[in-house]
Amino acid sequence: MNVGIIGSGTMGSGIAQVAATSGCAVKLYDTNQVALDKAKANLEKILNRLIEKGRIDAEEKTRIQNNISYVNNLKDLSDSNLTIEAIVENLDIKKKVFLELESYVSDNCIIASNTSSLSIASIASSLQKPERCVGIHFFNPAPLMKLVEVIPAVQTSKAVLTKSVETIKSWKKTVAVAKDTPGFIVNRVARPFYGEALRIYEEGIASFSEIDAAMKDVGGFRMGPFELMDFIGNDVNYTVTETVFAAFYFDPRYKPSFTQKRLSEAGYFGRKSGKGYYDYDDNGKKISI
Ligand code: NAI
Repeated sequence: MNVGIIGSGTMGSGIAQVAATSGCAVKLYDTNQVALDKAKANLEKILNRLIEKGRIDAEEKTRIQNNISYVNNLKDLSDSNLTIEAIVENLDIKKKVFLELESYVSDNCIIASNTSSLSIASIASSLQKPERCVGIHFFNPAPLMKLVEVIPAVQTSKAVLTKSVETIKSWKKTVAVAKDTPGFIVNRVARPFYGEALRIYEEGIASFSEIDAAMKDVGGFRMGPFELMDFIGNDVNYTVTETVFAAFYFDPRYKPSFTQKRLSEAGYFGRKSGKGYYDYDDNGKKISI
């Protein structure tokens, strides 16, 4: 199967790894050459780590790497059977890219979005053939997280939904089919997790490291809410909160936080930028102060 991935950032590069590991011929596209180079270098590091842990051998590493080509022209995705978009969480930009993409791919190519919070119906509406559009929502880090939400829009055909579910299952993922509502399942449940943690911090009840420690040590979570926001990216996480808040007609349950807005405005995105709630070294490891 030929798979085109649009956007080689956190999610796009992870999804490319998943598809390539399952034997798909992947083309990973980005407008930013630096992002493409970074994705390639990161994959090399990840695969080397897997070799060190004895999970794969050198032959498997070469096979996975050879299954991915890095391209900077959207036209190069023209022979895709499935495309998954993972670019910036902005409806207008996504719509523009989808419309252009549709002019290159064949009629039966499935066009999917990895959006966390935008309506699949509105993304699909940019296409000549909206029935080919579906949400395929991976979690970060895509190679490790088992769950993938598949979201049919009102326009999505049954055949496209079935094929998408089958494909993602063949990539050894667990599929949850969710309705096209803001945040789908996981991101909706997660909003109060981040939101209440931020409110506790803003009200001076505890520091963010104390909140993280409490949620991990006593709450049983693998990461605290602030560690998780830094991991996801404060820019991405804030935008998702804003979108879900607006999509639920400004229901105060989903109200975004100024603390996170300011971090995002300052470029303190978290792990990927070296600074967020915490500081990180070049390998993305938390620096303890
Ligand atoms: P990111 O910021 O790490 O990567 C986005 C990439 O898209 C960048 O490399 C950028 O150069 C590229 N890009 C931007 N505009 C482009 C365009 N017009 N054409 C081609 N490439 C373009 O973002 P991330 O975190 O990978 O998020 C991507 C999507 O995945 C968003 O829709 C986000 O909501 C969703 N998502 C993010 C998760 C996360 O934990 N970060 C989890 C699940 C979904």
